[in-house]
Amino acid sequence: MCGIVGYAGTRECGDILIDGLRRLEYRGYDSAGVAIHTTNGVERVRAEGKLANLERAFRDTPLHGTVGIGHTRWATHGRPSEANAHPHMVDGFVVVHNGIIENHMELRDELEAGGDRFESETDTEIIAHLVARERPKTDSLLEAVRNTMAQVRGSYAVVVMNADEPDLMVAARQASPLIVGLGDGENFAASDVPAIMMHTRDVVFMNDGDFAVIRRDSVEFSDTSGAPVTHTAKRILWDPVSAEKQGYKHFMLKEIHEQPDRIIDTMRGRVSLETNHVHFPDMALDDEVLSSVKRIIILACGTSYHAGMVGRYAIEKLARVPVEVDLASEFRYRDPVIGEGTLIVAISQSGETADTLAAVAEAKRRGAKAIAICNVIESTLTRVCEGTIYTHAGPEIGVASTKAFTTQLVALYLLAIWLAQERGTQEPAERIELLEGLRRIPGQIEKCIQDEARIREFARNYVDVHSFLFLGRGMQFPIALEGALKLKEISYIHAEGYAAGEMKHGPIALIDDDLPVVVVAPRNEHYEKVLSNLEEVKARGGRVIAVTSEPAGDVLRHADDVMTIPEVPELLQPLVTVIPLQLLSYCIADIKGTDIDQPRNLAKSVTVE
Ligand code: F6R
Repeated sequence: MCGIVGYAGTRECGDILIDGLRRLEYRGYDSAGVAIHTTNGVERVRAEGKLANLERAFRDTPLHGTVGIGHTRWATHGRPSEANAHPHMVDGFVVVHNGIIENHMELRDELEAGGDRFESETDTEIIAHLVARERPKTDSLLEAVRNTMAQVRGSYAVVVMNADEPDLMVAARQASPLIVGLGDGENFAASDVPAIMMHTRDVVFMNDGDFAVIRRDSVEFSDTSGAPVTHTAKRILWDPVSAEKQGYKHFMLKEIHEQPDRIIDTMRGRVSLETNHVHFPDMALDDEVLSSVKRIIILACGTSYHAGMVGRYAIEKLARVPVEVDLASEFRYRDPVIGEGTLIVAISQSGETADTLAAVAEAKRRGAKAIAICNVIESTLTRVCEGTIYTHAGPEIGVASTKAFTTQLVALYLLAIWLAQERGTQEPAERIELLEGLRRIPGQIEKCIQDEARIREFARNYVDVHSFLFLGRGMQFPIALEGALKLKEISYIHAEGYAAGEMKHGPIALIDDDLPVVVVAPRNEHYEKVLSNLEEVKARGGRVIAVTSEPAGDVLRHADDVMTIPEVPELLQPLVTVIPLQLLSYCIADIKGTDIDQPRNLAKSVTVE
C-alpha cells in the first residue's frame, strides 16, 4: 500500500516529491514525509495525517535540494504517527519502503542486541539500520542495499539514500511495484506512473529482484547477484487528465459518471461490427490452452471478487464450463486441487493485490495457466499471467471501486461470449442479441445515473441508521454483496449482503424498522420469489428500498423507496442494477460528510496480506 517517489535531477525537488505523493495518496494516506539532500546533509520533514499536513510542515520548514525521496504511508507496523512516518533515517542512511518485512522481529532483536536504538515501531527502520551496518563493509551503497535485502524476508519496494553520497539513490523491488522514470537530465523512482507522468512518460517497470542506481544523468539496473540487467523503457500513452476531478465533488462521483464511456473502451476493438464475433487481439494465450479448458477458477478480492461471482453465471451459462470463484486470500492457503485443463482467471483493478498475486503464483506452481482481467497496464499481475484482458477503465482514484467493477463485468461477459463462440455452445443469433444488448448498456447506465438527484432526496432518510441488509438472488446476489460493500466502506454504516433465499435461515430475525433492507429485484426469472422476500420484510415492519425494472409496478406497493433500471437482457442486468446502489452509497456518505475518496483505514491498492 504506501506510495514512494524519488527524484535525482537539477530542479528543486521538494514540490516535485510532494506533487508526486499527492498522486499516490490513493495508496495510503495516514502520514507522509520527504527527505532531501541539502547543504546540511540529508534533512527530513514528516507529518501525521493527510498529505496536506506534510505540505503545511514543508512550507514552514522548506528544504532545498535536487535529490530526494518521499513517502505516503498506510500503516502496517506501528500506528500512524510522525515517528512512524517514512523516510526513516539511521546515521545518514535514509529509507522509504512499501511492503512488509516478515522477519522484522528477529532482525530487530539482533540489531538491538548489538546496541542499535530504534526511533519507530516500523519494520522499515530495520532496513535503514542494516544498510548503515553494511555500508562500511562494502564498496558502494548499491552493494550495501543488496546485502541488506538478502537478509530480509517479505515484500518491498525501497529507495535508499546516504547523506555522504548526495548524487544518487538506490532502489530495489521484490513483490511490491516500483518504476523508474527516465527524463532529460533527471530521473525518477515511483510506486506508480501518475506520480511522475507530468515529468516523463518513459518508464521502466522494475522486476522482482531488480536493483537500480539512479543518478540525474544515468540509471543502472542489476540483479540480486550483481549482474547488469537491461531494460527497455515503455512509453506511457494514457492521458493525465483522467487522473483529475474535472469539476466533480469527488473522484468517486466522477468515476460513476464515467462508466458509460469506459465500458465503450472495454469493448473497443474486441467486438467486430461486421461479423459479431468477439476477439482479444491484445491477449496472448495460445488457442490450444483455451480449447482444452475443462474448468475455470476465478480468483480475486473485494469488489473484484463480486465481479467474479457475476462472471461465473455468465461463463457457465454461455460456455458450459464449470467455474469456481474463490477469494484469493482463502485459495492461497487451502491446498487447492488443480486438475488438467484448469484455467485461472485472476481479476484485479490494481494488478498489485498481494493475495491475488500469491493465489495466482500458487495455482501456477501447481500447473495451471492463468489470465488476468486487470485495469493497470504493466502491473505485476499482468506480467505473471499468460495473457491479460485489460479493462481500460483509466485510473480509478476513489478508493471505492465503481468503474473498475462495471468494466470488469464487461470483460467477463466478453470472455464468456468468446468462450461460447470458440466452443460452439451458443447459437450465433443469441450471441448477436447479447452483443447488441451490451452495446446498449452505456446509454442505459447513463439513464440510471440521471436518477441521482431523486436518490439523494430519499437517501436523507437513511443517514442515521446503524445497519442495512442487501438482498439479491442469482446474478443479483453478488450485486447485493457489492451494494453492501460500497455502503460500508464509504459511509461507515454496517451493511450485510445476503442471498435472498437465505433470509429465512437467519437474518430475518434482525428485521424491524431500524434495519432498512435493500432488495435488488429487477424483472427476471427470480422476480416473483424476490417479491415474496420483499413482502416478508414488509410484514415484519421493515423499511424497503427496491431496485427494480421500470415500470416499477408491483414493487411500488411494497417498497418505501424505489430505484428503477431500464429493461435490459437478463444476463446483463448486474451491469445496471449496481448503478443505483453506487449512487445510494455515495449520496448517503456525502450527506453524512465522510471522506468519500479516502475512507478511513482503507487504501486503494492492498499490496500486503
Ligand atoms: C472496494 C474495493 C476493494 C478492491 C479489492 C481488490 O471498493 O475497491 O474491495 O476491490 O481490494 O482490489 P484489486 O481489484 O485492485 O485487486
